Amino acid sequence: MQLKKSKISNPLEIYQGNIKSFFKEFKKIFNEEKIYLIVDENTIQQIDYLEENFSVTSTHLQLESGEKNKTFNSVLKIWDFLNRNNVKSNDLLIILGGGMLTDLAGFAASTYKRGIEFIYLPTTLLAMADASIGGKTGFNYQFLKNNIGTFTLPKAVFLDTTFLATLPKIEIDSGIAEVYKHSIIGDVDLWNYLKVNSKELDLDYIVKSSKNLKLEIVSKDPYEKNIRKKLNFGHTIGHAIESYLLDSNAPTLHGFAIAKGMIIESFIAKKENLLSENFFQEIKTVLSNNFKSYLNFKIDSKAIIKLILSDKKNTKSTINFSLPTKIGEVTINHEIELKKVESYLLEFLQND
Ligand SMILES: NC(=O)c1ccc[n+]([C@@H]2O[C@H](COP(=O)([O-])OP(=O)(O)OC[C@H]3O[C@@H](n4cnc5c(N)ncnc54)[C@H](O)[C@@H]3O)[C@@H](O)[C@H]2O)c1
Repeated sequence: MQLKKSKISNPLEIYQGNIKSFFKEFKKIFNEEKIYLIVDENTIQQIDYLEENFSVTSTHLQLESGEKNKTFNSVLKIWDFLNRNNVKSNDLLIILGGGMLTDLAGFAASTYKRGIEFIYLPTTLLAMADASIGGKTGFNYQFLKNNIGTFTLPKAVFLDTTFLATLPKIEIDSGIAEVYKHSIIGDVDLWNYLKVNSKELDLDYIVKSSKNLKLEIVSKDPYEKNIRKKLNFGHTIGHAIESYLLDSNAPTLHGFAIAKGMIIESFIAKKENLLSENFFQEIKTVLSNNFKSYLNFKIDSKAIIKLILSDKKNTKSTINFSLPTKIGEVTINHEIELKKVESYLLEFLQND
C-alpha cells in the first residue's frame, strides 16, 4: 500500500500479516545483516522473533516504558545511542514497541542527522490500528501531550498481530477505544461489528479496518489542514484528561482518556444541536458499557479547560472541535466559545 505525498519524501509501505511472510519485502528495504533497534523492557522479549524471521542480528537500546517516559530525556538517550554506534544517515532504525515508543523514537530518528530512515514494528493494538499510521511523531513536554513533534513517515510498517499474544488485556482494551473512534468518524460497519462482537473481536479485522480508514484520511490531508482533523474527535477533551492525570498519582491509558473524551464531546455535539439525542445515547451507552471499569477517574473541570487552552489547535476565546453528527460522520472546525465549553463540561460532570 502506498501513501504518496510530495513533501513527505519517503513512500510508506504497510504490510499486514505474519512478519515471516514479508521476508522478501524486508530484505528489499534492508539488505544488511545488522540492525539498530529501539525497545522497552516489555518489547525486548520480541527481539528473538524479529531476528529469527528477518535473519538479522541487532544492537538495541532499551528504554523505560510508559507515557511518563515519553520525554525529552528519553529522546536524548536515543540520540546518544545513535551517536555511540556511529549510525549513519543511510542506516536504518527499527522501532519495536507501542505508540509511546513509535512516537518518541520516530521523533528522535526524524531529527537525528536531519532524519534517518526508520521502520515501525508496532507491538500494541493501539499502535497497529492508529499510532504507526500517518507520520505524527513526538513527545510530551512539560506534561503537555505531544507538544513537540514532527510529521515524518517511516520507511515501512509491519503489522503483525502475533505480537499481541503477550499484551495485557487492559492494553488491548485501550487500543480498542481508538478503533471505536475510527468507527464513529467514518465506518458504520465497523461500529456495528464492535457493538455486536465486543467480547470476541477479530484483531486482524479491526487492525485492517482501522488502518485503512486512517490511511484514507491522512493520504488526502497529511498535514492536518482539513479532513485529518476528523481524527481529533475525542482528543480535545481526551488529551486534556490524559495530561491532567499524567501529572497525578493515578494516570490513565491513552485509549481510556479518549473514550471519555468521545463521550463528553458527543454530549457537546448534542448541546450544539449537531447530534441527535438517540445517537448521543448510543455512543454513550456503548462506550460506557465497554470501558466501564476504566472510566471512573476524577476530573477537575477548571484544570481541563486550562489544559485545552494549551492545546495547539485553540485560540484564547474559542475551542476548535471535531464533533460527530451521526455514527460514521464528523464535522470539523466547529468553534465554540470557551465559556460555553466550560458550562457544557460542568453540566456533563454534574450528571455523570
Ligand atoms: N502518532 C499518532 O498518530 C498516535 C495516535 C494515537 C496514539 N498515539 C500515542 O500512542 C501512545 C499510546 O500507545 P500504546 O497504547 O501503544 O501504549 P504504550 O506504547 O505505552 O504501550 C503500552 C504498554 O504495553 C507494553 N507493551 C508493548 N507491546 C507489548 C507486547 N507485545 N507485549 C507486552 N507488553 C507490551 C509497553 O511496554 C507498555 O508498557 C500515546 O503516547 C499516544 O499519544 C500516537
